[in-house]
Amino acid sequence: MNDQLLENFKTRLTATEASFKVMHRAPSNIALVKYWGKYDPQLPANPSISFTLSRAFTETLVFFEPSMSPKINLKFEGKAKPSFIPKVQSFIDRIKDYCPYLSGYNLEIETSNSFPHSSGIASSASGMAALAMAICSLEANLSGDKVDLKKASFLARLGSGSAARSIEGPLMSWGLHKDILGSSDLFATPFFEAHPIFNAYQDAILLVHKGVKSVSSTVGHNLMNNHPFAEQRFAQANENLARLLRVLRTGDLDDFIEIVELEALSLHAMMFSSTPSYILMQPGTLSIIQRIRTFRKETGIPVCFTLDAGANVHVLYPLENKEIVVDLIDNELSAFCEDGQYLLDECGLGAK
Ligand code: DP6
Repeated sequence: MNDQLLENFKTRLTATEASFKVMHRAPSNIALVKYWGKYDPQLPANPSISFTLSRAFTETLVFFEPSMSPKINLKFEGKAKPSFIPKVQSFIDRIKDYCPYLSGYNLEIETSNSFPHSSGIASSASGMAALAMAICSLEANLSGDKVDLKKASFLARLGSGSAARSIEGPLMSWGLHKDILGSSDLFATPFFEAHPIFNAYQDAILLVHKGVKSVSSTVGHNLMNNHPFAEQRFAQANENLARLLRVLRTGDLDDFIEIVELEALSLHAMMFSSTPSYILMQPGTLSIIQRIRTFRKETGIPVCFTLDAGANVHVLYPLENKEIVVDLIDNELSAFCEDGQYLLDECGLGAK
């Protein structure tokens, strides 16, 4: 099955003598059921699902210039950034069987993020998704066909797993799951059956720690290889996804909250119990979590939290509760943020 799918992503297209320039914007995403653990080539140990965001994005301009001896130049936020080139080069090397035409072009890349540099918001998902979209636009230009979004997700995945989920929105699942028709470990697909309340779901990203995190996601994924709870965790993620799919259809927010918070804490529990063990939460992370839970109990407002692999807290809530939740953030939660900073984001439709 996968062999046939992989063949479909291959092409015989080659470079032409015309240059091609394209700009893409791709958003970040926040997982509700977490991808944590992977194996070669960048395949997930369990399926995941995420909200695609809209205001936290990467914008990337790529100038493909015909060349016999291709090279890559890269500017980040207006300045030459040679330290980013090896990552892009290894991505290009990894996708060369699927994009043979790339061997005929120099790549001049100019990229920037909408969120502050080193804010602790990971840019690998939005960055790799924007680059994959640029490559698929070049391919569409060469073939005369439309941009293939499934291939864009497939290529983005080879750059960073979670990037596969940043191509479309507002909900994207990635990884084979019995309850999702057409699901695959190779690329993400949009989940179209959600209750309308989830179309405009809000995500306030509270910046508890803005620096680079002490242990990268890549290292964290690798620590799942010999983790004593790995098999139980992968089974739990499959079950949580099955439950969450039902909840996404019905719009039952109590169950949504239960599953989403459990996933966030289970992700961090894997870090606590890895060898070596590590902690990415900060005291402020826990204070925010506790306050959200008491606020929910006191008011009945369906606000909850999730975490990515870092100290920042994503506060999730329906659009209709925006005013009261933003008041809570301004009056109480922002005190636990570095420089009081947070970013109000919401679900979006993916790359443009
Ligand atoms: C905790 O996609 O950043 O955010 O595939 O090594 O690039 P690589 O890892 P990455 O891992 C994301 C982990 C997560 C959960 C998630 O987004 O599902």
